[in-house]
Amino acid sequence: MALINEHYLKLRGGYLFPEITRRLEAFRVAEPAAAKRIIRCGIGDVTEPLPSAVIEAMHNAVDELASRETFRGYGPAAGYEFIRETIAQHDFRGRGIDVDASEIFLSDGSKGDCGHILELLGRGNRVVIADPVYPVYVDTNVMVGNTGEALADGGYGGIVYLPCTPANGFVAAPPAQRADLIYLCYPNNPTGAMIDRRQLRAWVDYALENDAIILYDVAYQAFISEPDLPRSIYEIDGARRCAIEFHSFSKNGGFTGVRCGFTVCPREVAGLTKDGRKITLHELWQRRWNTRSNGVSYVVQRAAEALYSPDGKAQVAALVDHYLTNARILREGFEAVGWKVFGGVNAPYVWAACPDGVSSWEMFDRLLQDANVAVVPGAGFGRCGEGYIRISAFNSRDNIDTAVDRLRKLSW
Ligand code: MLT
Repeated sequence: MALINEHYLKLRGGYLFPEITRRLEAFRVAEPAAAKRIIRCGIGDVTEPLPSAVIEAMHNAVDELASRETFRGYGPAAGYEFIRETIAQHDFRGRGIDVDASEIFLSDGSKGDCGHILELLGRGNRVVIADPVYPVYVDTNVMVGNTGEALADGGYGGIVYLPCTPANGFVAAPPAQRADLIYLCYPNNPTGAMIDRRQLRAWVDYALENDAIILYDVAYQAFISEPDLPRSIYEIDGARRCAIEFHSFSKNGGFTGVRCGFTVCPREVAGLTKDGRKITLHELWQRRWNTRSNGVSYVVQRAAEALYSPDGKAQVAALVDHYLTNARILREGFEAVGWKVFGGVNAPYVWAACPDGVSSWEMFDRLLQDANVAVVPGAGFGRCGEGYIRISAFNSRDNIDTAVDRLRKLSW
């Protein structure tokens, strides 16, 4: 009989979001009438339709595929030149950041690449992860065997967790000990916190001093609204030598269903062989794509390109503004009734403290039961998430207004 990858058996319970869906389904079965009123502020899934520039580009691309003269079959594994060049120009070079089109690898979204990148890296790396955190970073490290067993306190052996709390503004400083791999996500999922230049500089310095690699997830970059915050780690000198950056079109372009993102792997980032040779990851990443994938569909690549057209940019800005306004309504609404809330300024997530003595799953149940509002319990993001809930601003304005109204009426 075939052997299985037993590291999967270390994983605790289900993945967070399917678990929430399971609980919502149980609620629907138990209370069908109340379930019809549920407002979903749980998983960060967009609600507004795709920008019209995207729709038009997709229609045009489909038409191209309908005719022999313009038909396209297999494309380059890492994406067509037209989209890689567009990204390099608009997201990087046009903003004075040195990133070449050949360093951009198109994918079906940043979630997958955050896990796939571990294929290039050996076992035994010391991994540093913030707590609370997007669960993909921890789970994918468990899956490949970078961790020990699940611990009674909720973590996994072998991972260095960095607590992110109100005391450090939910931005951890580099640890005293050495690390090989560091996961950072800013704007942060789940806390909504944002890192500043000085703090990011400290991480880049730490990575360079320790020959470590930073895996920098900027899926929520479009939501940075305050001036002078770093939108890319490559704004920091030296980051090209130590950082790989993950981007997504899910939240800015509304591509959660369309599926497209990209990873920037600069030519300078390197790792070591056991016998001490330095190998650049760019070549390995390209090799991986060539073998494992035929890339993102042509229609979707044209859709992504349209996000950078003048119309596309204006429509993306309107979408981001819609969700950020929702976040402000959530924040202000809760603050007005004495909730302690964080985030929601440079991110579409509001991170709210539970009342004293109420656990995050109890709060989840209570909000679902009494207000018919679904949120995410902070404990699902790690030990330091206990005592908090995450409320997503991805929703229609009507739903957000109603959710605030219902939540404000709850008494504790
Ligand atoms: C979230 O809710 O944290 C995200 O939407 C999940 C994801 O992007 O995979």
